[in-house]
Amino acid sequence: MKAPMRVAVTGAAGQIAYSLLFRVASGDMLGKDQPVILQLLEITPALDALKGVVMELDDCAFPLVAGITMSDKPEEAFKDVDVALLVGARPRGPGMERKDLLEANAAIFSVQGKALNDVASRDVKVLVVGNPANTNALIAQRNAPDLNPANFTAMTRLDHNRALAQLAAKTDAHTTDVKQMIIWGNHSATQYPDISQATVKGQAASGLVARDWYETDFIPTVQQRGAAIIKARGASSAASAGSSAVDHVRDWVLGTPAGDWVSMAIPSDGSYGIEKGLIYSFPVTCKNGRYEIVQGLDIDDFSRERMSVTEQELREERDGVAHLLP
Ligand code: NAI
Repeated sequence: MKAPMRVAVTGAAGQIAYSLLFRVASGDMLGKDQPVILQLLEITPALDALKGVVMELDDCAFPLVAGITMSDKPEEAFKDVDVALLVGARPRGPGMERKDLLEANAAIFSVQGKALNDVASRDVKVLVVGNPANTNALIAQRNAPDLNPANFTAMTRLDHNRALAQLAAKTDAHTTDVKQMIIWGNHSATQYPDISQATVKGQAASGLVARDWYETDFIPTVQQRGAAIIKARGASSAASAGSSAVDHVRDWVLGTPAGDWVSMAIPSDGSYGIEKGLIYSFPVTCKNGRYEIVQGLDIDDFSRERMSVTEQELREERDGVAHLLP
């Protein structure tokens, strides 16, 4: 039996965690032979609700769960963790400006970054789900100077999976028939879902769908899918977000399939001309617990323009919290 891996989940009494925790506990994220210790973080007023979630986790009698802890202190929840899923965030309240939202979250993610820096495993893999995810990841990373900056990532896998589903439905294929999808940029409405490299059953996707559908239907549908789900469900996407977090970490730790890639928001190294340091979503392959940006893709004018728009938004978010970045 392998030694257990420690997985921190923040916002553990929230909606996403309510689906995510059970997937992690059942081995979907780290493997069916990998025991896990769940280290759950919540704000103090939510600890009672968290107890209820833990009672349910206990009641599942998951064979792979080697322990569960609960805390309202990041330095307890992050102690020695191998994976940190930063899901909890401050939601936008009534009348709250974008700037206020950025600042409220900057306060949370700077504290959590410092705590990770102090107590987490030196190889901790961090996935930020809580919004604004890319900039929250940047704040956590900047507050963790002793950790590898590359280990701070944000989630655009849900957008990637949404794009697979839309293209598969349009081409009457299965999502597994679709390869080499890309989400560029920010996890926001400026993200650029790009099918220029994608194939469906080995054929170029761009030859299978009308250009007009791609530009006026596919792109906005993927960009605004979150809002469409809130409208339909009366609540935000939680199970699909949890499932995509499982996919993101699984592929990062266990590797991406041969011949395909995934989208992850990661610190830019300047590839494709994207400003170094921004947490920007790129196509990546993963092997041996490390990701690498897919290089050498042709970027046409249409793509370049959209990649720049979402890059500019990330610059503005970063500049908005610059006074809080060490
Ligand atoms: P939720 O409101 O149901 O749960 C959030 C939980 O976080 C709450 O229980 C709250 O008490 C907790 N929390 C707040 N501040 C905390 C802190 N400082 N430390 C620990 N816990 C804290 O929200 P839900 O639906 O679970 O969503 C969580 C976040 O994920 C939101 O920011 C949402 O916008 C984001 N999201 C991101 C997606 C992505 O693709 N990147 C997709 C869907 C949601």
